[in-house]
Amino acid sequence: MDLSGALWASFEKARKEYEKAKEHGNIEVARKKAKECANIMRALAKNSPQYGDIYLKRARKWEEIAKSKKKMYESGAGKEEDEFKSYIESLISKSKVQWNDIGGLKKVKRLMMETIVIAGLNKPKAIKPWKGILLYGPPGTGKTLLAAASAGSLDATFFNVKADKIISKYFGESSKLVSKLYEVAKEKAPSIVFIDEFDALSLSRSMDTSEAARRMLSTLLSELDGFQDKDNDEFVLTLAATNTPWDLDTAILSRFPRRIYVPLPDEEASKEIIKIHTSGLDISNLNLTKIAKKCVEKFYSGRDIANLCQQAIWNMIREENKNLAELSKFSYNELRSKELKIRPLRMEDFYKAFEKVKSPLTEEDIKKYEKWDEEYGG
Ligand SMILES: Nc1ncnc2c1ncn2[C@@H]1O[C@H](COP(=O)(O)OP(=O)(O)OP(=O)(O)O)[C@@H](O)[C@H]1O
Ligand SMILES: [Mg+2]
Repeated sequence: MDLSGALWASFEKARKEYEKAKEHGNIEVARKKAKECANIMRALAKNSPQYGDIYLKRARKWEEIAKSKKKMYESGAGKEEDEFKSYIESLISKSKVQWNDIGGLKKVKRLMMETIVIAGLNKPKAIKPWKGILLYGPPGTGKTLLAAASAGSLDATFFNVKADKIISKYFGESSKLVSKLYEVAKEKAPSIVFIDEFDALSLSRSMDTSEAARRMLSTLLSELDGFQDKDNDEFVLTLAATNTPWDLDTAILSRFPRRIYVPLPDEEASKEIIKIHTSGLDISNLNLTKIAKKCVEKFYSGRDIANLCQQAIWNMIREENKNLAELSKFSYNELRSKELKIRPLRMEDFYKAFEKVKSPLTEEDIKKYEKWDEEYGG
């Protein structure tokens, strides 16, 4: 049987991967790929003896390349790679957040679940899931939670990346770090790469900053180009989050055709978030509608509502346990045998809490988000 067609196809693939690794300075990958090219050339020589000499010559050329990469790696570049790798591993966290831990955001949750489900299912080649989703909205509305829930529900590897941290820590090398990041993400697929404070990258682009920062962004954008690659079935979804979508430029936006607005909670959503953050306590005496209305009026985010609930709960605890501080004379083990006194939450607890929680947002801020959403959202 003539295998040369298939062999050539895999050679081309390996060669391209070699070029890409070389370009990004991933010496170890480049070495592996060069070795692969050499092996395929040897297979070709066996398969088509009439051209055997030519193929063998090429195989030796690739072996030389692989050898020189090995030398480069051992002479120090490898150490740098190891440092990158351990930094990247430090970005990984296991997420236990589930969709149910997020109140409201029904539409947003549905859109994200769809994307993830489609990526996982068997499907015809023409159907390609998104590689990147942009989440934007005011602070504290659940963007990080959504990313964590995507990872949690898939049991995916979750890379929690702060864009500005990478730039400041790895300034000149941040481009290499990004390609390494995606290399590890592919290895540990399914993966969610969550890039927080995404606008930090865009700003560094428009300002006259170094070539290195620009290179980092262009590496990232090329990782994001197009759709999930059908030839590799590793699932790597990039979620980027920002509070200032208007700072993103068009080159970035074009890589995120899927842009999702994560708004402040409405009345229904506020109720759900209150229930989540008071779970385990008796809230049957509360007028949830009244509390939720007030949350909306005061432009509360999910984070503000979580704070509100904590404050209210503390008001209840302090009232029921007047001598709480005095209990500090007991050892931890003695405390284990005593119970904290609790009672059902009351409206009064919340009224006092409302005074403590202030949202920094104004109606104008919200309008700005809505306007951007209308123009660029989708
Ligand atoms: N929809 C929600 N349901 C339940 N809890 C929420 C919700 N939104 C926010 N919270 C609470 O607020 C906290 C902060 O939310 P999160 O970190 O997801 O906000 P964010 O949008 O990423 O904010 P930032 O833009 O400041 O990074 C969460 O840990 C959670 O306790
Ligand atoms: Mg966040």
